[in-house]
Amino acid sequence: MKKRVLSGCRPSGKLHLGNYLGGIKGMIALQNHPHQYETFYMVANSHAITTPYSVNELKEDTIGVIIDYLAAGLNPQKSTLFIQSQVPEHFELAYYFSSILSIARMQHLPTYKEKIKQYPQNNTMALLNYPVLMAADILLYKADLVPVGIDQEPHLEVAREVARKMNQIYGTNFNEPRRFQTKGEYIPSLKGEGKMSKTIEGSQINLTDSREVIYKKIRSIPTATTAGGEMTAGIKTLFIFAELFLPTEAKNFKKEYDQGTLQFVTLKDAVAEAIYKELKPFQERRKEIAKNHVYINKVIEEGVNKARIIASKTLKEVKKKMGLL
Ligand code: TRP
Repeated sequence: MKKRVLSGCRPSGKLHLGNYLGGIKGMIALQNHPHQYETFYMVANSHAITTPYSVNELKEDTIGVIIDYLAAGLNPQKSTLFIQSQVPEHFELAYYFSSILSIARMQHLPTYKEKIKQYPQNNTMALLNYPVLMAADILLYKADLVPVGIDQEPHLEVAREVARKMNQIYGTNFNEPRRFQTKGEYIPSLKGEGKMSKTIEGSQINLTDSREVIYKKIRSIPTATTAGGEMTAGIKTLFIFAELFLPTEAKNFKKEYDQGTLQFVTLKDAVAEAIYKELKPFQERRKEIAKNHVYINKVIEEGVNKARIIASKTLKEVKKKMGLL
């Protein structure tokens, strides 16, 4: 039996390096073992409305993520690529799941706490419900593996809890999904504090950033040394990038750093160039694909049809088990 894989990116703003390394690279790796895995990758656009957003940008960014997926190497012949809002089964299943999760459990999740701190005016039901919808996204396809960054682990715990409880209470047969890890599962912010995030200004490198912009952003990482000689957060960030993008040279840079001879600008420019080299083929493909509206629409339409076949089957099973006519 093939294992199922499901993942998604939220289209709030442009995708960045953290999404790419923590999520998309893992998605591609699993897609490319088609005998072992059946892969479903969505654009989590309905999750984007849990924080303040612009209607027009959301539309554009949703299609943008599909284009990013294609440009990054996701292949609609191998993976089902779809838009979450077009599969209503997700929302129906999330509602059923909400009956077995307590409000207190949801209020204690770190992601929820962060978001209400960031947007105190936006403490909504949809935000509280975020992990419930995510559990539905995953369990609707009975996924075994979920390639996402480490920050999503608390959400996966919720999904496993839902699977166990549903099986216990109603006799369903959900798997307990596991996170599929990648090397770049934690990408720090350029500001030297926290993770790279779409919603934090100045923290990220976008996948579509030009060479010039990448250089500028990497050069702006704070690398002032402290009196005690301790590695500051900014310097650590720079070395994380060096290890990811310049695996062979990273050791030498570290040696120079330890000896106190490292010129930070040299390391920064080397890192910037390596990041640009990694992104360049993606950017070129993206430009070509973006012109082909007919193709993009075809991918979206075929994706939703394939997704709904599986989704409607699971939903039917669940309704029957729960006594819903
Ligand atoms: N919460 C995820 C993120 O912010 C996006 C997401 C929504 C997702 N539903 C999902 C990821 C289901 C994996 C599986 O990155």
